[in-house]
Amino acid sequence: MSNDIEVTMQEDRLFEPTFEFIEQAHIKSKGQYDAMYMESIRSPEKFWGDIAEDFTWKKKWDQVINWDDAPVAKWFDGAELNITENCLDRHLETERRTKKALIWEGEPGDTLELTYEQLHDRVCRAAAMLREQGVKKGDRVTIYLPMVPELMISVLACARIGAIHSVIFGGFSSGAILDRVKDAESAVVITADGGWRRGKTLGLKKIVDDAINQTDIVKTCIVVQRAEVDHEMKSGRDIYWNDIYPAEGTAFEAETMKSQDPLFLLYTSGSTGKPKGVQHSTAGYMVGTHTTTKYIFDMKDSDVYWCTADVGWITGHSYLVYGPLLNGATIVMYEGAPNFPDFDRFWDVIEKHKVTIFYTAPTAIRAFMKWGNEHVEKHDISSLRLLGTVGEPINPEAWMWYHEKIGASRCPIVDTWWQTETGAIMITPLPGVTSTRPGCATTPFFGVDAAIVDEKGNEVPDGKGGLLVIRKPWPSMLTNIWGDLDRFKEVYWSRFAEQGYYLAGDGAVKDKNGYITILGRIDDVINVSGHRLSTMELESCLVAHPSVAEAAVVGFEHDLKGEGIAAYVIVNNGFTQSEDDKVILKKFIAGEIGAFARPDQIHFADALPKTRSGKIMRRVLKEIAAGRDIEGDLSTIEDIAALKKLAASAKV
Ligand code: PRX
Repeated sequence: MSNDIEVTMQEDRLFEPTFEFIEQAHIKSKGQYDAMYMESIRSPEKFWGDIAEDFTWKKKWDQVINWDDAPVAKWFDGAELNITENCLDRHLETERRTKKALIWEGEPGDTLELTYEQLHDRVCRAAAMLREQGVKKGDRVTIYLPMVPELMISVLACARIGAIHSVIFGGFSSGAILDRVKDAESAVVITADGGWRRGKTLGLKKIVDDAINQTDIVKTCIVVQRAEVDHEMKSGRDIYWNDIYPAEGTAFEAETMKSQDPLFLLYTSGSTGKPKGVQHSTAGYMVGTHTTTKYIFDMKDSDVYWCTADVGWITGHSYLVYGPLLNGATIVMYEGAPNFPDFDRFWDVIEKHKVTIFYTAPTAIRAFMKWGNEHVEKHDISSLRLLGTVGEPINPEAWMWYHEKIGASRCPIVDTWWQTETGAIMITPLPGVTSTRPGCATTPFFGVDAAIVDEKGNEVPDGKGGLLVIRKPWPSMLTNIWGDLDRFKEVYWSRFAEQGYYLAGDGAVKDKNGYITILGRIDDVINVSGHRLSTMELESCLVAHPSVAEAAVVGFEHDLKGEGIAAYVIVNNGFTQSEDDKVILKKFIAGEIGAFARPDQIHFADALPKTRSGKIMRRVLKEIAAGRDIEGDLSTIEDIAALKKLAASAKV
């Protein structure tokens, strides 16, 4: 057990929601939660069917959940809809027509505000633009943009015409873009000349070119002019957004989609092979993201809501775009870094726009703590009423700082556990109900039948760690891995095929009150600043470098990032092992995958600690990386002398 988890497990402080919060909350009591939860588990058809009545459907469903083709769930089977009519058109018939949908702030300080009516208009125009470019229902459109309004608009424009969007986080490199474009067979890419980050521009078009010049799959590349970065335009393929975006608004009719039609792909790392295109469908995802946003963020029309995630991650999809728009919320979107021009940028944004709900990652919170309280204290952030965290375990120290310094010991904190695959939040406090405990995600959301089981699928006793599984289908669940149904079944459903449980890939423990604490991944996935990376993917990347003969990558506890990356490398004959060589390898990974995948440590080794059967002992490598003495049974190690040498050199 890592030190962080040990600290979390010993935590026994409980924080009740305040009276003022409870009074105004959508859900006000444990009794109300229990009754709704019970109904959601016992009668999901009734529970979700009632909620779905409030949406705009082109045709109502025949069945709320059809699980006949398990594990492919058909939520709202038989229904027809378009999610953008629910995100936009539906609000135009109400007072929300003139309500702010988006408050966007660029890193240099430029801003744009759009009402629901204006956002609708822009999405319709972008949809017309894509249609004009020949994009049809079912086509895949890759979006590689900075956090500019066109990102949200492009996503919604795709959904409006029934194209499947595949957003790639702007921090990924050309190698990652090429893999994803090829896997999705995406003929259209939307990108920008560049974006702003920490006062500098980053040339996105150049990165895209390095990828798409290597394939003839991409026929059209639409370029948003954002940061005046030099770039090339390939004639016949590349075209500026501004040159084709209609000057006049059009009421672009939304495509009719079946409830199961894919809405988007989002590539994420698993324990094996290349990143997989997690596929989400339309109706279930819509109902799931709407309902979680409403109850977990206690969303009201008066709120100004800010989720700091990039749209390139699932959090950005579900809680920056779809969930809040489905609720008719006012959304803040910020383009750049939290520490530009100064360490108080986030608090400045909150003060300026009077943000009431703030959702961010533990990594960011740890960075704010390090930067110091004075940056927070410069600002009036008393508009805040609710805080959230996501993406990785939050250590109690960071939780307490968030609670006291940002939440003024008054705002509830929702520590939300979920995944790219789950589409929406699964385990979380409900802000008006749950007594929260630092570091604990607490209880399942409506419809989530979470359990902690042993290797055989039997529930473990309270207080004992085990595998986190979900025993029943839930509306926003993934429906496939793009083009690979076998892999979908294998990765998530094969471990407990008999019982039909979804394997989350996390370890967890439940206490006697039913509170669930997430213990971290049970597979070879590491979580670096909330970014999910596969050790195997990093290893394959390293061995592709000419100097590397063999590599092993592990995660280790890191004060700021949650987990850091340590790579152990055996070089080929004739290559040197200098500090410069370490820098070369770090840069190589950053170039192949993205800067966020750059290893924190590179260790050159004569041999990797393996068991006699040839298995790398990762536990030992983790301990070396964390600077701890190697403990436990080493009797199965093949080459103990090489291990001792490695451990000694790591300490220097
Ligand atoms: O290990 C869990 C961790 O992040 C993984 C999912 O990563 P991703 O698909 O990139 O989605 C992140 C945003 C939803 C999980 O398997 N994780 C996510 N939220 C938490 C968490 N670990 C602990 N506590 C959380 N609140």
